[in-house]
Amino acid sequence: MITPTPFLWGAATAGHQVEGNNVNADIWLLEQVQGTLFAEPSGDACNSLAHWREDVALIESLGLNCYRFSVEWSRIEPAQRQFSIAWLDHYARIAAHCRDRHIAPVVTLSHFTSPRWFAAAGGWENGDAPALFARFADRVARRIAGEASHVVTFNEPNLQKLGTWSTTPLSADMRDGFATMMAAAAKASGSDRFSVLVYPGDTDAQIALVAAGHAQARAALKAVRGDLPVGLSLAVPDAQATGPENALAAFRKSVDAPFFAMVKDDDFIGIQTYSRLLIGPKGSLPPAPGMELTEAGDEFYPEALGNAVRYVHAATGKPIFVTENGIGAADDAQRRRFLPAALASLDAVRRDGVPVIGYIHWSLMDNFEWRRGYSKHFGLVAVDRRTFRRTPKPSARLYAKLVEARA
Ligand code: BGC
Repeated sequence: MITPTPFLWGAATAGHQVEGNNVNADIWLLEQVQGTLFAEPSGDACNSLAHWREDVALIESLGLNCYRFSVEWSRIEPAQRQFSIAWLDHYARIAAHCRDRHIAPVVTLSHFTSPRWFAAAGGWENGDAPALFARFADRVARRIAGEASHVVTFNEPNLQKLGTWSTTPLSADMRDGFATMMAAAAKASGSDRFSVLVYPGDTDAQIALVAAGHAQARAALKAVRGDLPVGLSLAVPDAQATGPENALAAFRKSVDAPFFAMVKDDDFIGIQTYSRLLIGPKGSLPPAPGMELTEAGDEFYPEALGNAVRYVHAATGKPIFVTENGIGAADDAQRRRFLPAALASLDAVRRDGVPVIGYIHWSLMDNFEWRRGYSKHFGLVAVDRRTFRRTPKPSARLYAKLVEARA
């Protein structure tokens, strides 16, 4: 097996979902405007700005050797061209602290959020976006590249494209709702535009600019440290045809191919798999009636992981890094059934010789689940929303055991 040693076993968070008070981010503004589609604002989140050492200690206590977290562009560059040394130092401290504990820091540059000024300038529909992103990547690289174990440039830039394949597309009300929310954010920012990669926009224009942004950011990172492994992470459900195979082929050509083309010169491809997705003749379908569902509305289908890893490696030839896999579960017992089955499907793929760098569970802790607010529970660890006290769930102990058995 061409797997680098040691295999990385980790858990993930993302800045906006755990830090709290990310007030210069585009999504923070969307949470605040009148007509917001967010169930509630992110507020203090898990207050990881104050509690990040405990977060790393949790990783350590579970016997994991990897922590994936993201740096918040809107803290590092709160106004265009004004870079904050203090915030770069903050993230560098987290990375160094991980290293001191033999924990590999996997750093994501863009986990859905961007600075508010960037969205108001057109976000990933603005031709300047790749250069702006690469300049940010350069600043991060110069401060953190020495400590980072891997850098993920983008988290799931294919999410919108995936959405366009749904046979239950956004209702007219929802589409209007997005337009109203974006217009309010533009107005509040004194602009006529407000574009956020993860919400409806001109998807094809965005893909072209994301491709350029990814390549330029990778070049900026490599210029600082040539041997720093760089990749991006895609949402990859285990797509299965319910009818003619050509529907599946068309789905893959549209949703995967443009993004697979971006990773040709990368060191790895990150994949994030939560469930399977049934592809009918006209597009993707909701879970079939009678299937067990998760709290997040996905089909409970842990073996999706192995299938997705196998498919992406066959399609790209790249080493695979599972940068997210997990389950929204109100009842932790469902997560305890999910974990062993998901990992067994990964074991089988690795036994077959597919190169896998590591497995990172989403998420280390319950956190701000975007538009759904705090109502979904992806965490191995529960967080008290008033005291920010972290309490590992039984599934955290189970994960630690499963990892130990494989170490
Ligand atoms: C995202 C996370 C999110 C998770 C669960 C992934 O698509 O990267 O930010 O919390 O799914 O919905």
